[in-house]
Amino acid sequence: MNTKKVVITGANSGIGKAAAIKFASKNFHVIMACRDLAKGERALKEVTSLSKNNRVELMHLDVSSFKSIRRFSNEYRMKYDVLDVLIHNAAYFNHGEQEFQESADHIELTFATNVAGPFLLTELLKDLLAKSDDPRILNACSTNIKHFFDPKRTIELDNLRGEFRDSRIYSVYKHYGDSKMALLMLTFRWAEEFRPHGIKVNAVMINNIRNEWQSIKKVRSWYRVAAALQNLIAAPTSMMADVYFHICTSNEFSETTGKLINHRKEVVYCSKLDDNAGFSAVAKEIKSGKTYPKYADNREAQDKVWVYCRRLIK
Ligand SMILES: NC(=O)c1ccc[n+]([C@@H]2O[C@H](COP(=O)([O-])OP(=O)(O)OC[C@H]3O[C@@H](n4cnc5c(N)ncnc54)[C@H](OP(=O)(O)O)[C@@H]3O)[C@@H](O)[C@H]2O)c1
Repeated sequence: MNTKKVVITGANSGIGKAAAIKFASKNFHVIMACRDLAKGERALKEVTSLSKNNRVELMHLDVSSFKSIRRFSNEYRMKYDVLDVLIHNAAYFNHGEQEFQESADHIELTFATNVAGPFLLTELLKDLLAKSDDPRILNACSTNIKHFFDPKRTIELDNLRGEFRDSRIYSVYKHYGDSKMALLMLTFRWAEEFRPHGIKVNAVMINNIRNEWQSIKKVRSWYRVAAALQNLIAAPTSMMADVYFHICTSNEFSETTGKLINHRKEVVYCSKLDDNAGFSAVAKEIKSGKTYPKYADNREAQDKVWVYCRRLIK
């Protein structure tokens, strides 16, 4: 019997819920780490009945709150002494929101949910992961990082405490891209740090997967129209759940670490394009889905993100 444990954040809808069904149907012990417990209960019933696996449980986790993350980690440790797979799937992406949004810890909400939260959760669970015989971490990244093909684009780290909230336009869309780039950079750094402990860390580059109406409703103005239209041609969540499962369990990726992987299960490599490359060359690279912007490999930028996250969780 498979006794492996997987924690999936944001498993009460969309890809996270589909991933819970996939792992549960393959007999994993699934811990659905969700903020909205009412929605979580409904999802839990669905996952249990579709997978016919009773070892699926719901635990409360607001990944934007350090207090909630610490509580979740303590509760997990009281029950279990090992973790095999950790999937940072939850994300904040309320595009169109115009008021600066901050977490309970006064960190810009996109960064708090998509970067700082996963950073602390990983820190608190890494020793339990190290006890697994095949530990893997997966970070939900996005094709939105394509905006960093613009050589002038950098992660806006100086406004995450709202330092310029009165003078800069607040764009969740931009913070979202920043957060996914930061998460990719953390993927590279965690992979290095955890190599001696055998923990593999990868990121998956997600694009246009079907959203539930509840999620579409979170985005505002023309972003909602665009999301609803895109949904018509989007791939089903089960498709991405299969990719999550493959990256986290297959022999093919058992030794892979510090990589970005696309929806075709191909490793994505750093672009070799010159900074002065023309629009069509850049567009061709983005369309191929086979490369990521050079900025992700920038050691100085990675250090800044790493140090910033370390300072936040202190
Ligand atoms: N769908 C796509 O085309 C696409 C493209 C690129 C990347 N992605 C990435 O894929 C992942 C899953 O997204 P999805 O498309 O499946 O959308 P989704 O159904 O809206 O899932 C997002 C999940 O994150 C949860 N969440 C948000 N803030 C949270 C918090 N503070 N604490 C705990 N959970 C929180 C949400 O729970 P609540 O119900 O509590 O809000 C929800 O369960 C995300 O990382 C997203 O960025 C998706």
